[in-house]
Amino acid sequence: MTPPGADGARCPVHVEPPAPMTKSFSNLQIDSERLWGTIHETARFGATPKGGVRRLTLGPEDKQVRNWFRTACEAAGCEVYVDALGTMFALRSGRDMTKPPLGIGSHLDTQPTGGKYDGVLGTLAALEVVRTLNAAGIETEIPLCVVNWTNEEGSRFAPAMMASGTYAGDFTTEDILARKDADGVTVAEALEAIGYRGSEAVGARRLGAFVELHIEQGPILEAEGKTIGVVHNGQGIIWYDGRLTGFASHAGTTPMPLRRDALATFAEVVLAVERIARELGPEAVGTIGEATIENASRNVVPGDLTFTLDVRSANAATLDKFDIMLRKVFEEIAARRKVAVELNQVWRKEPTQFDAKLVDAVEAAAKELGYGYRRITSGAGHDACNLATVMPAAMIFVPCKDGVSHNELEDATQADCAAGANVLLHTVLALAGVADKG
Ligand code: GLV
Ligand code: MN
Ligand code: MN
Repeated sequence: MTPPGADGARCPVHVEPPAPMTKSFSNLQIDSERLWGTIHETARFGATPKGGVRRLTLGPEDKQVRNWFRTACEAAGCEVYVDALGTMFALRSGRDMTKPPLGIGSHLDTQPTGGKYDGVLGTLAALEVVRTLNAAGIETEIPLCVVNWTNEEGSRFAPAMMASGTYAGDFTTEDILARKDADGVTVAEALEAIGYRGSEAVGARRLGAFVELHIEQGPILEAEGKTIGVVHNGQGIIWYDGRLTGFASHAGTTPMPLRRDALATFAEVVLAVERIARELGPEAVGTIGEATIENASRNVVPGDLTFTLDVRSANAATLDKFDIMLRKVFEEIAARRKVAVELNQVWRKEPTQFDAKLVDAVEAAAKELGYGYRRITSGAGHDACNLATVMPAAMIFVPCKDGVSHNELEDATQADCAAGANVLLHTVLALAGVADKG
C-alpha cells in the first residue's frame, strides 16, 4: 500500500474500534509537576528576556530542544525515528505491533517572539502520557507514537505545518526541501546543518489516528470558565504574498497629485482587508502580518512595497468570497492610485472537520474526569488539521491567559496544562486500549 504523503498519494487509514477500557485505570492521572517541569526546562532553549521563546524551526535552539526530546523519549523506552523533513517519531511498543500506532504530539518550534506553550504543551504532554503509562506498568493494545512535527509555525519557511502537510500528501518532499528562508537557506540545508535530515520517507511511518493537545490561543474557554475545549473543526487558511509597485521619487519636489506612493496605497489596502473581514461577519478574519518598503529612505516617496496576507474562515465558501472581494477592491485602489497591486496565493488549507468518533472520545474523557468543557472551533492552524485529511484526528484545547498567543506573554496555568494532559491520557487509553495481562 502506498503510504500517505508519498508525494501526492492519499491513503486514509482507520483507527480500530477502541478496546473496552479497564475500569481500574479510570483514576489514573499524569504527573502535573513533572509535566510542568519539562515545559519550563525546555523553555531554556531560545528563552527571551521577556519570558518567551524564540526557537525558529531548524535553527540552533530547535536542535537543542530536539536533542533534549530525543534523549527524554529514549529514556522513556521509545525508539526515535526521523523522516526526510526532520519530523521526529518516538515509538512506544504496544501488544499488537501489526496495528498502526496512535499518534500523539504537536511541535517544538516557536514564533520569533513566541511563548512557552504553543506546540510545546502538546508535545511534552504526549511524552508525559508515555511516562505515566510506564510508571503505571500499562501496555497499550496498539502502539503509541509521540510526534514532533517540523515547522508548524511557518515563520522561517512557508507554509506553516509544512511537514504534516507533506505527510498528508499536500506537497512533495522535494518541493518542501527546496523552500528558502529570508536569507536564502533551503529547508534541506537547514536540516543538514542541525543533523535532522532523517532517512525515512515522509509518510512511510503510518499512524492509525492522531490526537493533539494545544492551548486554545484565543479567549473563549477562559471567558466561559471552561477547562477543556473539545475541538470539532478548524478554520481554513489562505496565505498570499502581495506587492505594490508605484514610483519612487523625491520627497521634496514631487507634488502630491503626481505621486504614485506605494505606502499610502498600502494604507488603503490594509483598511480594505479589515473592512472585508468585518463585512463577512464573525466567521472571517484577515491579517497583514508583514510589510516591507523596498529601499526605504525618509526623503523618498515609497515606490515598492511587499506584504503578506493571512485570511481565515471555518467556511470554505466564505474564503472564496473573501478572495473575490479582495481582488475587486485591490483593482479599484490600484487603478485610482496608479500603483500596481499584485496578490499571489501561496497556500490554501481547506477548513477542517475532525473525526466524529475521536471528538466524542475526547469529550467522553473530559466528562469522565469531571472537567468543564465545550465544543470549539480552532482558529489556528495545527498539524492535526493536516492529518485529519488522511486519518481520524482530533484536538484538545486548554485555556491560555487573556487568549494571548504568538507573543512572549503567552501564559497558561499548571492546573489547566495538567487537565489537558489528563484528557489526552484518557483519550489514549480509550483509543489504544489496555493490553490484557491475563
Ligand atoms: C499556526 O500557528 C497558525 O498560523 O495558525
Ligand atoms: Mn501551535
Ligand atoms: Mn503557533
